[in-house]
Amino acid sequence: MNIRVFRTPSDAGIYAASMLERVITSSERPVIGLATGETVIPVYDALVNFVRCGLNVSHVTTINLDEYVGLAPDHPQSYHQFMDEHLFSRIGIRMQSTHLPNGVAPDLAAECERYNEVIRNHPIDMQVLGIGVNGHIGFNEPSHALITGTHVVNLTPETIAMNARFFSRKEDVPRQAITMGIQSILQAKQIMLLAFGEHKADIIYRALKDGIRTDVPASILQLHKDVTVILDRQSAARL
Ligand code: GLP
Repeated sequence: MNIRVFRTPSDAGIYAASMLERVITSSERPVIGLATGETVIPVYDALVNFVRCGLNVSHVTTINLDEYVGLAPDHPQSYHQFMDEHLFSRIGIRMQSTHLPNGVAPDLAAECERYNEVIRNHPIDMQVLGIGVNGHIGFNEPSHALITGTHVVNLTPETIAMNARFFSRKEDVPRQAITMGIQSILQAKQIMLLAFGEHKADIIYRALKDGIRTDVPASILQLHKDVTVILDRQSAARL
């Protein structure tokens, strides 16, 4: 694993966006796997700046990791809205295609199958990942077993508690999500894992240095041959 430690999340975001630029400019049909969460905001900020300075992204396909079950695409806390707000609506042009799971699909099993098909048809060149404080990637939560393909997941009490800050009423916090599975993530040609802040230092240590365990889903990334870990000094403190 290539581990890079930066002074600030914004420096790290510029580095991550440069890695994305390399993928975007070196292929006719690049496919980027995207993540949501506070961590990736500096990456999208930098990428938007690159686009404003001339980077062409009209040929890019994006595939997001996950979406909450029960939140429609226009719900303010949905990941559809997150992506629109932080990336899609800011780049000024339409990309080739952008994909997220539909959290309000009437048949969730069929939706997972549809999403698997999207991933099969668009092999991911570079997957962007954040990490939950419990080690989840996408919404692949700690468990006795990790699931290969897209699936509906019951969020852990810890994740629900972490997400509560984004909702005005506790009972509105989604209990389930649709997430890309572990195999789909590992099939990406390249992966970048980002984490910032003191509160991620412990899980970064456990994910990178402490063996591979299903109760730390991110630790499975140790098996992938092309992972870049992008940290700030605080999240790297235990390495
Ligand atoms: C959510 C997302 C993950 C993300 C994680 C960390 O649960 N499903 O993809 O990595 O949160 O979020 P943050 O970057 O806000 O710490």
